[in-house]
Amino acid sequence: MTFLSATLSRVKPSPTIAVTTKAQELKAAGRDVIGLGAGEPDFDTPQNIKDAAIAAIAAGKTKYTAPDGIIELKQAICAKLLRDNELTYAPDQVSVGTGGKQILYNALMATLNPGDEVVIAAPYWVSYPDMVLLAGGTPVIATASSQTNYKLTADQLEAAITPKTKWFIFNSPSNPTGAGYNREELKELTDVLIRHPHVWVMTDDIYEHLMYDDFEFVTPAQLEPRLYERTLTCNGVSKAYAMTGWRIGYAAGPKELIGAMRKIQSQSTSNPCTISQWASVEALNGPQDFLAENNKTFVRRRNLVVDMLSAIEGMTCPVPEGAFYVYPSIGGLIGKTTPDGTIIENDAIFATKLLEDTGVAVVFGAAFGLSPNFRVSYATSDAALKEACTRIQTFCATLAQRINT
Ligand SMILES: Cc1ncc(COP(=O)(O)O)c(C=O)c1O
Repeated sequence: MTFLSATLSRVKPSPTIAVTTKAQELKAAGRDVIGLGAGEPDFDTPQNIKDAAIAAIAAGKTKYTAPDGIIELKQAICAKLLRDNELTYAPDQVSVGTGGKQILYNALMATLNPGDEVVIAAPYWVSYPDMVLLAGGTPVIATASSQTNYKLTADQLEAAITPKTKWFIFNSPSNPTGAGYNREELKELTDVLIRHPHVWVMTDDIYEHLMYDDFEFVTPAQLEPRLYERTLTCNGVSKAYAMTGWRIGYAAGPKELIGAMRKIQSQSTSNPCTISQWASVEALNGPQDFLAENNKTFVRRRNLVVDMLSAIEGMTCPVPEGAFYVYPSIGGLIGKTTPDGTIIENDAIFATKLLEDTGVAVVFGAAFGLSPNFRVSYATSDAALKEACTRIQTFCATLAQRINT
C-alpha cells in the first residue's frame, strides 16, 4: 500500500509479541497453554514502589514534567550509576524515557543517517535490527557461536566494523541467551573498540541485576574509561524491579547526545508518565535487598529448566549467567518427524508444532537471528516450568528419525 512509508516495509512486527498473542488466543479457545514467551518477571512490583506512586498521586504530582524526566529521578539515576557501576554522570547527562525501548530508539533516531551501520551481535533482542531500520540505518549482524555460549569474540566484532559503523550495540546479560560477559570477555571487545574511535557503544544493561552464581556485572564505560566519551549507558527499572508496565527507562552519556534525544522526545511523546517517574525514584533510592531474594528464585528455576532440557537427546542447553532466559539448540532434532508426519525442518516449525501439540509456547531462534534454537523465559512458576519441560521432553521423545524411501 503506497500510503504507508517505505521504511515500514523493511520492519517486521515483534515475533515475541506474536507468540504471546497466539498463546493467548489458544488459551481463550480453551486450550491448556503454558506461555514461556514473555519477557517479564512474574513477581509483583515491590510495595514500597507502589506506595511511592500512590503518594505521588495524592500529592498532585500528576502533571507534565520536563520532557526527559524530573531532576529527582535524574539524581537517583546518577547515584545508582556511581553506586553500582563506578560511573560519574551529572543530571544533564541523563535522559529518562518511556521504557528502555524508547531510550534506545531515541538514541538511534538522534544519530543515524542513511548508510550508517550498527553492529549487532546475534542472537539479538528482536527489536535492535528493526529499530535501526526504522531510524534509517543498516544493521550489521555479527553472529556469535554456540562454542562461546553465544558471546561475541574480538575477531567477530572486528570483522563486522567498517568505516560506516556508527554504533555497536552491546547487551549483557543478553536477551535471548542470558549470556553475561565477564571482565576478560568484555575487555576483548573494548580493546577492539579502542582501535576504532569512530564507533560508539550503546550498552543495554537492562538485565544488570539479574546475575547468578556470583557473576560480576560490568559495563563497557566502567571497564574501559577511554570509552566514556562515546558510550551511551542504557538501563531501566522494568526487569529488576518488576516494573515492565510502568514504562521507565533511562540512559547516561555525552551531553550533546542526551540533548538530541531530549529534542526527539519533546516532539514525540514528551515526558514519561509522571507517577511512574516518582515510583522509579523510590525503586532506585529505596531498599534493594529484594533483588537477591528474587535472584534465588530465578537461579532455582534456571537450574530446573537447564537440567530438564539438557536431558533431551538432540538438544543442548548452555547454563546462562543471567537474565531469565535459556536458549537451547535443537541441532540434533532437525530433520526428524512428528507422529503426524511433519518434518522439523527448522526452529520455527519446531516451535509451532510444540505449541499446537503440547500447548507450550516458546519463541523460535530465527526471530533472534540464530538458528536452530528456541528461547524459553523462565520467569514463571516452578510448577509451570516443570510441566512445560516435561511436555517438551515428551514431544521430543515422539520425534522419529526420517526414513528415506
Ligand atoms: C534486551 C532488552 N532491552 C530493552 C528492553 C526494553 O525494556 P522496556 O520494557 O524498559 O522498554 C527489553 C525488554 O524486553 C529487553 O529484553
